[in-house]
Amino acid sequence: MTRQIYRQLRERILDGRLKPGDRLPASRELAEELAVARKTVTNVYDLLLSEGFLESRVGSGTFVAAGISKRRNSTARAASPIVIPEPWERLSLRLAPSRQGLPFDFSLGVPDSSRFPFPLWRSLLASQARLLSQNASAYADPQGYGPLREAIAKYTAFTRAVVCDSNDVIVTNGAQQAFALIASVFASSATTVAVEHPGYDRARWLFESHGARIAEVPVDEEGLLVERLPRQAKVVYVTPSHQFPLGVRLSLPRRLALLEWAAKHGAVVIEDDYDSEFRFAARPLDSLQSLDRQGVVLYVGTFSKVLFPGVRIGFLVAPEPLRSALIAARQLTDRHGPLLVQAALARFVQEGHLARYIRKMRRIYAERREKLLHCLETDLAHSLELWPSVAGLHIAARVKRGLSGDEVAASAERAGVSVQSLGEHGIALGYGAIEPGQIDEGIRRLRQSIDRAEVGFCGKVNGR
Ligand SMILES: Cc1ncc(COP(=O)(O)O)c(C=O)c1O
Repeated sequence: MTRQIYRQLRERILDGRLKPGDRLPASRELAEELAVARKTVTNVYDLLLSEGFLESRVGSGTFVAAGISKRRNSTARAASPIVIPEPWERLSLRLAPSRQGLPFDFSLGVPDSSRFPFPLWRSLLASQARLLSQNASAYADPQGYGPLREAIAKYTAFTRAVVCDSNDVIVTNGAQQAFALIASVFASSATTVAVEHPGYDRARWLFESHGARIAEVPVDEEGLLVERLPRQAKVVYVTPSHQFPLGVRLSLPRRLALLEWAAKHGAVVIEDDYDSEFRFAARPLDSLQSLDRQGVVLYVGTFSKVLFPGVRIGFLVAPEPLRSALIAARQLTDRHGPLLVQAALARFVQEGHLARYIRKMRRIYAERREKLLHCLETDLAHSLELWPSVAGLHIAARVKRGLSGDEVAASAERAGVSVQSLGEHGIALGYGAIEPGQIDEGIRRLRQSIDRAEVGFCGKVNGR
């Protein structure tokens, strides 16, 4: 209510319906008229007074301030004289919030946070808030809270064989900020950045936003086709454990070839290891970083999938010579992340809650994954061919019957099913957001929508 009343009054002052010197009703009167608390109105008046739209004259009331000139165009804003530079015009359209909320939700990148131990998390936050309030007046370490770096180093060394200690770790606000720091140091308009195709758009767009030239490198069942890397690339972005979005893993020969290529060409390799904690078959290959003898790999991890995206904590493990530039970039971006969440997370990891939670969620996701695979294999084997994958929270599939991923996703959406189109590469289905009880029906509807899309497709082909 405060915002609404504030906006309306402000708008009336700006478009001249309320003129300089006009008296506003007493706060009690206006509150009565609008059926709101008097405090709401006094808050609005205070805000407009502090911004100079109103002035108060002791003993006589509140008035529209003298000297406020009417805006030229009364209701709509005039076309802005400011031109948004490319590529931001285009990126802002692509990153506009998308619609959501379909009943059968196979969206990608969404973990199930309903089983997260929030009461425990709240008590860790509360106890850390008490500790931090004793030392709140200084800026903290831009590299991240020491005990959290320590905990992350132990955890990634153990789970992903990442070779590091706490000095190698930089805590970031999610993986995306790790990419942003890397981009600010290594990508400019003179840089070629190689990305997987198909790949993770948010990393690609980030490099585009720095003006870098993007080289798309194709992916097959063994991951990135290393021999297709352009020699001028100075940054290579890969998802070796669970290729995004196809789900394949980078084979050992290709890993070795990639490292050799990067060392030869003086290129950094970003290893985005975003969801490999959830693995369901054979033990996955250790991280690419664990094979790196030349110091070319920047390993990026995130807590967005293992905990929940809103925790906004990720990390970067960087070899020594590259680290200080990345820490400097962090200082110039936002100095450092908020300490409270870092401190609570450090305790969460140190006390073994993270490992326990991952074990629990792995069982839950394994059940959904099995169910989904079963349904896909029984109901949709004639339409979809699955990409091989053993980890993560989604499965990708080629569409066999001449249909594109876009056609299938659009038809599924009309049936209340959300799946991700991968264009000519097919579709992907996440199982983080969907309850097992909904999988059968979701896949049944998907099958029907593929059948319907096919009828439309055949109609087009036959010229009907
Ligand atoms: C390929 C990939 N990398 C990284 C992330 C995680 O990003 P963040 O840690 O910024 O939430 C995601 C999330 O969807 C992803 O799909």
